[in-house]
Amino acid sequence: MTEGKKSDLATDYLKLARISLSGRIQDVQLMLHRAAKRYRTSDGPLADSLTTLLQESPTLASPLRKQAEIPLPVDLDSRLHLLRVETEPTIDHEPIFAPEWAAALNQIVAERRNAASLNRAGLQPTRSALFVGPPGVGKTMAARWLARELKRPLLILDLAAVMSSLLGRTGGNLRHVLDYAKGINCVLLLDELDAIAKRRDDQGEIGELKRLVTVLIQQIDDWPSSGILLGATNHPALLDPAIWRRFETHISFPLPDRAAVAQFLTETLAPVFPNTAAWTAPLAVAFAGKSFSDIERELIAARRYAAINDVPLDDRLAILAGSQVTDKASRIAVATALVDHGLVSQRKARALTGVARDTIRNRTAPKGKLRRRTDREAP
Ligand SMILES: Nc1ncnc2c1ncn2[C@@H]1O[C@H](COP(=O)(O)OP(=O)(O)OP(=O)(O)O)[C@@H](O)[C@H]1O
Ligand SMILES: [Mg+2]
Repeated sequence: MTEGKKSDLATDYLKLARISLSGRIQDVQLMLHRAAKRYRTSDGPLADSLTTLLQESPTLASPLRKQAEIPLPVDLDSRLHLLRVETEPTIDHEPIFAPEWAAALNQIVAERRNAASLNRAGLQPTRSALFVGPPGVGKTMAARWLARELKRPLLILDLAAVMSSLLGRTGGNLRHVLDYAKGINCVLLLDELDAIAKRRDDQGEIGELKRLVTVLIQQIDDWPSSGILLGATNHPALLDPAIWRRFETHISFPLPDRAAVAQFLTETLAPVFPNTAAWTAPLAVAFAGKSFSDIERELIAARRYAAINDVPLDDRLAILAGSQVTDKASRIAVATALVDHGLVSQRKARALTGVARDTIRNRTAPKGKLRRRTDREAP
């Protein structure tokens, strides 16, 4: 590269720094576009790299740009924005995939990545999927994961929040949001889909609800195959069967089992707590039947307490493990796991769980040996 080009680069570099620091992202993109053109002859590889970067990030023609130009739909009564938009969805920690949903979600991603093969076979990719499961097990997270994998914005419409005080307006709101989302290459999540069905009990509003269900059905039918429409519900039984049928795939999100809890602890606690490995098994026993979000909340509360009171996190985790379970079999299982893993003494385990020391002694391994758990003892 010549001296002259170097100073061109230096000038560009300074200009870029100036406009980036002032937060004018569109100007940054424009400048990079122009620079890529200018460098095309003198420095091909640099021009190529710039072009690739521009293609990967929102550009003038990208869905995000398009979205910025169309105003977000607002509720006619409250004027509140109806949609939550995550232009570049990110996830703090990777989701723990239950095998049931890992396969289904990977299939959706694979179809989009191999659209040409599907086209050749005269097929369209999956347009819609319904996520079913209790709260806090990863339905919203899976939508975010999907949008991130496919490099699309995620739009979330919380139907419970949108059910306008004037039910008659909800149909209009719903149509408004779906029309907007259809114009963008996005992943749209209709959260709390059963909110529509729940109001059915209210006799006075049955007519309006029927109309609303009809609007939703029409909108799902019209959904373009370029977009991805997801629905999430905690109460599948409440959902109108006609809506249920409209979704091409139904994915169940179960509560985590012990292995999933252990994996979750490794993902989320291990990076901040060196002794995580020792705690994995006892906490997995203690957290049986809890959702990921409940577990996450408990762990964060324990960490906060330990941090501000300057006590070892191990002490808080011991209290946490002891306080999670109430039935006798589970208390015994937690007490045994704590002692077996050398985390607390038998006396402490008794204080934490209320299980008699004799019981703990009979069920724990002799010092230095980990006892094999029998199925009968599992909580
Ligand atoms: N499968 C999972 N793997 C890892 N973390 C999870 C998982 N599921 C939930 N979490 C944690 O719990 C939080 C809440 O999960 P999420 O919002 O996805 O639950 P949800 O199933 O959509 O619940 P709701 O029915 O209440 O909307 C996530 O942000 C994440 O930190
Ligand atoms: Mg959710």
